[in-house]
Amino acid sequence: MTRRTTTLSASASAVALAAALALTGCSSSSSDAKSGPELKVSGAFMPQPVMDMAGGFLTITNGGNTADKLTSVTSSLSDDITIHESKNQKMQEVKSFDIPANGELKLERGGSHIMFMELKKQPKQGEKVGIELHFEKSAPIKVELPVEAPNHNPKQH
Ligand code: CU
Repeated sequence: MTRRTTTLSASASAVALAAALALTGCSSSSSDAKSGPELKVSGAFMPQPVMDMAGGFLTITNGGNTADKLTSVTSSLSDDITIHESKNQKMQEVKSFDIPANGELKLERGGSHIMFMELKKQPKQGEKVGIELHFEKSAPIKVELPVEAPNHNPKQH
């Protein structure tokens, strides 16, 4: 069993390597291979929801030379998740948010946010909500949102 597993994983990693090389070759065909978006997520949280809807906040930093877009968010918490911007005290759904090259996208209280409707359960402070961010160019990123107090706002610290 041990020997068979070893052989198998060795050939599996060879396949994975070949696939990775093929992928790299493909994406570099358009321009510089090193210039894709390089996204990092920080400061994520969800204020404890008071009704069956919730907001999600986080910052996405792009260290690459190519802009990207946040296009959608998915989670097992809700089947109805949209991205909203706030203008003149009103929020409205948008199709995507720009993540500028060598810049950042900030989703923060009073501004742009992720909107979760018809929650399947009520997450409590101290729990975590798993979400997946989807982008125009980059691969999806999984993020755990710590559930904070309903009025939590890191900007006020
Ligand atoms: Cu909203």
